Amino acid sequence: MAERSGEGRLAGKTAIVTGAAMGLGAAIAERFAAEGARVACLDVKAEPNEARVAAIAKAGGEAISLIGDVGDAEDTARMAEAVRERWGRIDVLVNNAGVIPSRETVIDTTEADWDETMRVNVKGVFLMCKAVVPVMVRQGGGVILNMSSVTGLVGLPVRPAYSASKGAVAILTKQMAVDFGGDNIRVNAINPSFVITEINRAMFDKMKAEGEPWERMLDQHPIRRLGEPEDVAAAAVFLASDEARWITGVTLPVDGGYTAR
Ligand SMILES: NC(=O)c1ccc[n+]([C@@H]2O[C@H](COP(=O)([O-])OP(=O)(O)OC[C@H]3O[C@@H](n4cnc5c(N)ncnc54)[C@H](O)[C@@H]3O)[C@@H](O)[C@H]2O)c1
Repeated sequence: MAERSGEGRLAGKTAIVTGAAMGLGAAIAERFAAEGARVACLDVKAEPNEARVAAIAKAGGEAISLIGDVGDAEDTARMAEAVRERWGRIDVLVNNAGVIPSRETVIDTTEADWDETMRVNVKGVFLMCKAVVPVMVRQGGGVILNMSSVTGLVGLPVRPAYSASKGAVAILTKQMAVDFGGDNIRVNAINPSFVITEINRAMFDKMKAEGEPWERMLDQHPIRRLGEPEDVAAAAVFLASDEARWITGVTLPVDGGYTAR
């Protein structure tokens, strides 16, 4: 981990990372802290989120834990206000929290699964932005990173609600980039393909053991491997940093070439 000496690529910035307890959000929160940012780790799961904050502190970073639901307007307002009160500003918002309650076609996707996917993946981004953007406008700028997916760019099998939600996040990113460019707020999305996290590692291990499905998966990625959370975190650091100061409204595939085929 880089020293928090004020020399990191995000030195002096404050960031909120939603869904920070595990997976991509955890990697982003840890990398942001290593790059000098003060990080508010936000998640609906208290115990792993607090463990993440403790790990960041142990590595020499500065982080706080916020527990709440991105799909709940009272929670998002409360959590944004807690960060503003604590650090005075919010420079970066990473809308990473997301769910995929089912993997079925439209025929077998339940209305409840559809609603929950949209509530967390789309409304959650809207509510977090609604709570944080006024702070960014007042302070003279900021950066928003939305976690979309390759499923928001191209069709993949058996995830209609999830794909629709990630497509919505992709276009919301461009829409907000247009509204807030004049306020010096950049809004970009990251569109990963398959990234190995704790949640899906067992599924990928099973595919590997079976051989053929794993080879087919690798064939879909010109760079013949799946992603690691750190691949996504590296892109997030760049887009959040001042090096990306003229980049807004993009949906960036971080996908080993998946969407290039
Ligand atoms: N892993 C992949 O292959 C992949 C690929 C493309 C996009 N994504 C997207 O990246 C993001 C992170 O995915 P992941 O694989 O790390 O998932 P994950 O399930 O490992 O982690 C998601 C985190 O979000 C939290 N969360 C869920 N609902 C929440 C809510 N309502 N409020 C606050 N926190 C909530 C969970 O508790 C969890 O800590 C998601 O938006 C996902 O759709 C993942």
